[in-house]
Amino acid sequence: MLKNVRLRLAFNRLQREMENFRDDLTAEDLLNFAYSEIGSLITPWQFREEIDKLAAEIEQLKPERALEIGTANGGTLFLLCRLSHLKARIMSIDLPEGDFGGGYPEWKTGLYRKFALEDQNLELLRADSHDPDTFAEVERYFGGKPLDYLFIDGDHTYEGVKRDYELYAPLVRKGGIIAFHDIVEHKESRCKVDEFWREVKEGKNCKEFVNDFDQGRYGIGLIYN
Ligand SMILES: C[S@@+](CC[C@H](N)C(=O)[O-])C[C@H]1O[C@@H](n2cnc3c(N)ncnc32)[C@H](O)[C@@H]1O
Repeated sequence: MLKNVRLRLAFNRLQREMENFRDDLTAEDLLNFAYSEIGSLITPWQFREEIDKLAAEIEQLKPERALEIGTANGGTLFLLCRLSHLKARIMSIDLPEGDFGGGYPEWKTGLYRKFALEDQNLELLRADSHDPDTFAEVERYFGGKPLDYLFIDGDHTYEGVKRDYELYAPLVRKGGIIAFHDIVEHKESRCKVDEFWREVKEGKNCKEFVNDFDQGRYGIGLIYN
């Protein structure tokens, strides 16, 4: 009970903080915030050194249309919104109580909406990314226009990550970026992104942001489409 009250208070404080945020913060400013004490409720589930490099890529790309699969605590979504084009359309999909993180309760959407800049359009879809209705919703939201950026960090099974790639990568434009999280071999046996990553990166222009290939988790892979 007390824990819940504390959590709500921390959320309210974070929400107020977000309202006073400037629009022109650099990737470094945003990361410092996300990894600070007040930002701890939205800290990305990423190693700082690895996400620093991904954030620099997003900052340079300035996506106008971006799709994220796997919202969870909103850490990577926060960075995505703040580093995207001022008028970007951004969608983040998460399956309520989904595997590999558990999704997020609906009451958190109020905070997540504040991640978006004034003229951005942010859609939070609480659904299974593999569901054909979800795919149809994505196509409708982006109006058939190609994506600049796709981040795959949802279902981490081999079949799950493959399905996300097969469904959504064709929506990414030439010159866009497709990023995967958890590309190193994991101690958690159900996470098999590394197996799919080894296959999919073959012959493609790609980059890996990995501190140490023996770290047992995390690691980011990028495909330049
Ligand atoms: C590792 S977390 C995402 C972390 C987040 N991107 C970050 O770095 O802060 C993975 C999320 O994917 C969601 N997920 C799992 N399977 C999914 C599916 N089939 N469709 C959509 N989301 C899914 C889970 O509910 C979980 O919240």
